[in-house]
Amino acid sequence: MSQTINVMVQQRRQEADGIISLELVAANGAALPAFTAGAHIDVHVPVVSVIRQYSLANDPRETDRYVIAVQQDPQSRGGSVGVHQYVQVGQSLQISPPRNHFELVAAPHVTLIAGGIGITPLLAMARQLAADQVDFSLHYVTRTKQRMAFYDELQQSEFADKVHVYHSDEPNGETEFNVAQLLQAVPQQGHVYVCGPSSLIEAVVQQAEADQIAAERIHREYFHNDQLSSGADSAFQVRIASSGAEFLVEADQSITQVLEANGVFVPVSCEEGVCGTCLTGVLDGDIDHRDVYLTEEERAANNQMALCCSRARSASLTLDL
Ligand code: FES
Repeated sequence: MSQTINVMVQQRRQEADGIISLELVAANGAALPAFTAGAHIDVHVPVVSVIRQYSLANDPRETDRYVIAVQQDPQSRGGSVGVHQYVQVGQSLQISPPRNHFELVAAPHVTLIAGGIGITPLLAMARQLAADQVDFSLHYVTRTKQRMAFYDELQQSEFADKVHVYHSDEPNGETEFNVAQLLQAVPQQGHVYVCGPSSLIEAVVQQAEADQIAAERIHREYFHNDQLSSGADSAFQVRIASSGAEFLVEADQSITQVLEANGVFVPVSCEEGVCGTCLTGVLDGDIDHRDVYLTEEERAANNQMALCCSRARSASLTLDL
């Protein structure tokens, strides 16, 4: 992380099965950098020494704390398990200042759709929209009620009447979660924000396409990249435009690994094509996009790529570095 803030864990709460929240305050007691709804921070996870991104769930008007939620992920590469096992109240942590790739844009109506731990950025959005008196609805689906983080907080919030919860494994409980119905109810000019598992995001994006809702009205944020490898990777060359240096990226290497080994610094964070930190301009060559960060339009433009995971279809790529 290029810039870090020292924080202390003020509170750790069990929010749901396998999900904890952490309240972080500045170690020196000062105010924390302001953030906007949808922002995330990088957290340096102790012991396992990895950096992971977590969305901020608290009210963006607060400057005395950040609240994140962490789900214990069986497919974790160390991050979520490390937080659950090693982060306790009173502990110091290093984090980055907040960044936002999932900003609210002005709209007369907003539909928020959260799947599981995807609630975190949408909770901050709901608080902001309520404060700004924007018309919105929040639809939140989890497999069971036991896995629903922030349930009580939502029910007791000033916007509780705008919150609709669904449990996909308990069909006899609340109303059935139905993406098609949700999107049909989106008013003209309304914007949609979705965060959660890839399957939910893809369902929303596909339904929006079928309903001819303009792509710029659908905003999404992934937590994981399920499309990392096509399983048929091959080697290619990368060329650094400023120096003319060329490096071979073997089939089992990423561009960032090769660049780092050769002393070319590119900032990385998630290393799985989710956060956009490593996005770099491409001046020549055919990109094989593997990230979930860029939109279809941005991919088609073929002029930038996530160096941590994307590859080349052509024999070489020229990077704007
Ligand atoms: Fe996150 Fe590459 S480091 S997209």
